Amino acid sequence: MAGYEALPERNPTRLKRKMRNFFGAWGVFFQGFVEHPVMVGSIIPSSRFTIRKMLEPVDWGSCRLFVEYGPGVGTFCQPVLDKLPSDASLIVIDTNRLFIDYLNRTIQDSRFIAVHGSAEDVEQIIRSHGHKHADYVLSGLPFSTLPEGLGPRIAAATYRVIRPGGAFLTYQFSKAAYNLTAQHFDRVDSGFEPLNILPCRLAWGWKSAPQSGAAGE
Ligand SMILES: C[S@@+](CC[C@H](N)C(=O)[O-])C[C@H]1O[C@@H](n2cnc3c(N)ncnc32)[C@H](O)[C@@H]1O
Repeated sequence: MAGYEALPERNPTRLKRKMRNFFGAWGVFFQGFVEHPVMVGSIIPSSRFTIRKMLEPVDWGSCRLFVEYGPGVGTFCQPVLDKLPSDASLIVIDTNRLFIDYLNRTIQDSRFIAVHGSAEDVEQIIRSHGHKHADYVLSGLPFSTLPEGLGPRIAAATYRVIRPGGAFLTYQFSKAAYNLTAQHFDRVDSGFEPLNILPCRLAWGWKSAPQSGAAGE
């Protein structure tokens, strides 16, 4: 989990500062894309239609820990916090320090924790914040452009970290996230959101809850 200490960004140029002030969150997102196109994978944050559809199946009442990979400038963060119970937590993980610094500046909520790190280390990250399992993990990661082998490692760690009955939620332009989810999760529901730039595929991978009354119980 080394190499992702949350340090403040040093000496942004005047042009970068002007762009951020003028365009707000979109300016920060665009700057993140220009600096790390492969890791960010999109030039515009997700639409409100994608957010609504993606979060629809979540059972908020039973949610204690919601984790998000690749929050960017926090497109999903406030909608999640709006629905999250008051004693639950939202942990977001992003490799881009620019985004983590932006989130820490703009979201003031005691349930919110922004971690500069990689989704691949989700188990250590949630443990270090006192949790054993996550109820839901939401991912905006561009799985098709991630470095070789990283996507499968993230999908495997995500299955391990989610409690039985919980789910892995993904939205992506390509089928890569759906395919990885299907390799690990017990059931996958799928959807499509045309009102997004670009239109995207949605997937909900469910981890089966243990059967009550199973043999040996
Ligand atoms: C397409 S953007 C998602 C933006 C945002 N969630 C939205 O819906 O508008 C992908 C994000 O994944 C982040 N990312 C890429 N690789 C990552 C990794 N291994 N762990 C965590 N975040 C990562 C990028 O820095 C970027 O913020």
